[in-house]
Amino acid sequence: MDVIALGAGFGAEMRGITMADIASDVAAYAAARAAFEEHSLLVLRGQAVTDELQLAFSRRFGPPEITKVGSQGAGSHFVILSTIGPDGKVVPSDHRLQMRNKANQLWHTDASFKRVPALASILSARIIPDHGGETEFVSTRLAFERLDPALQTQLEGSFAWHDYAHSRGQIASDLASAEERAALPAQCWRMVWRNPVNGRGALYLASHAYAVEGMDAAAGKTLIDELTASATQPGRSYLHSWRNGDVVMWDNRATMHRGRPWPSHEARLMIRTTVSATDADGLAVMRPPSRQAAE
Ligand SMILES: [Fe+2]
Repeated sequence: MDVIALGAGFGAEMRGITMADIASDVAAYAAARAAFEEHSLLVLRGQAVTDELQLAFSRRFGPPEITKVGSQGAGSHFVILSTIGPDGKVVPSDHRLQMRNKANQLWHTDASFKRVPALASILSARIIPDHGGETEFVSTRLAFERLDPALQTQLEGSFAWHDYAHSRGQIASDLASAEERAALPAQCWRMVWRNPVNGRGALYLASHAYAVEGMDAAAGKTLIDELTASATQPGRSYLHSWRNGDVVMWDNRATMHRGRPWPSHEARLMIRTTVSATDADGLAVMRPPSRQAAE
């Protein structure tokens, strides 16, 4: 297996190893897991992806998430990111599926609004538009390490509130449905997620984050916005241009990402699986102290 750095200070392409190897072989999984902990983002090219293989690969890394209500694929282990309607045609640009893509174009980490947040996301390209539709990533680990030590210490002892309805509300006030709001109450997480394998901290931020516990609402929002702006400065990102057979896996503890636009009349179909974080991934200390005692 060769691990080739992608050049942004994080992220690596893995060559000489396949999803099937990692799904079926203990040593291949151990090598991939070590690369995941170190590089935060892994690219595999030329994979013969099926839903079954993607799920078997994902299960290696931890428990697969069940897709939330209101998403395509709800109740299964798959999130279907598609702009293709039931009739097989691309839906119009004001359709809910297209609006959801706009929300995915805000910088975020997946599932920070869930009761159990995500360790990793695995995304495979099934239908790719001719133009655009890239996925762009930044390292919130490198962003954290660039901050001055006093701010690092402050953030490590701070907690932010994350709410799905907040990120969707930035696109349209009703984009999060009543069913989604009821199923997804706001969650509070430490603002720094420390990786237990290597001890490195990362900012835990997302478009879902809207307030900082114990801070005035406006000041908390400003802090979140400033940290997001510093983490996503131009020149810090890795832009993944999708090819058929590509699979990208990322660490939601240590990165943020956003979808990039494409012409709305062009079809795009991506399948995501998501691995829930566990205490072995550093989850327990992410909860506010009151909830650590309760759970
Ligand atoms: Fe995402």
